[in-house]
Amino acid sequence: MRTVVCPGSFDPFTYGHLDVVRRARALSDRVIVAVAQNAAKSTLFSIAERLELARITIESAQLTSVEVREAPGLLTEFCAQMGAEHIVKGLRNGADLDGELPMALMNRAISNVETLFVLGDPQLSHIASSLVKDVARHGGEIHGMVDPVVEAKVRSALAAQEEK
Ligand code: PNS
Repeated sequence: MRTVVCPGSFDPFTYGHLDVVRRARALSDRVIVAVAQNAAKSTLFSIAERLELARITIESAQLTSVEVREAPGLLTEFCAQMGAEHIVKGLRNGADLDGELPMALMNRAISNVETLFVLGDPQLSHIASSLVKDVARHGGEIHGMVDPVVEAKVRSALAAQEEK
């Protein structure tokens, strides 16, 4: 059974991420969506919330053999624990590749996990978690970019943040 890991900070999980998970599933028997910590980012949602939002999106898309798990430490160690042969990441553009390349090379240098890159649907290439939050923060429309439950949670989390 070929298992692959789709890692990310998923703050929150978007339809762009869902597209990548679908493509990873088509290449494998089992996909583990690994919700991890990116040391360079601070998040709107807690790890428990990010797990929940990814699970909700995947459940409503009715994807089978896709699990959502927390990857608390080093991603390569998580891959070894899960018996995953590959990491699968999506690319929207050259900037994504610039960001992903050092991580993929580092992960390969410290383990034998290769990263496979899939090209996301160009119709979704405007979607990024950071931009979704920014648009919502300024009252813009994020419908069609995230699951409706995620949309509502983004709005309530931003409202709670503003009250502080
Ligand atoms: O969605 P992101 O923020 O681009 O995902 C980056 C992520 C979370 C996959 C990366 O920061 C990561 O792998 N974090 C886990 C800790 C780790 O293994 N760090 C070394 C990466 S080379």
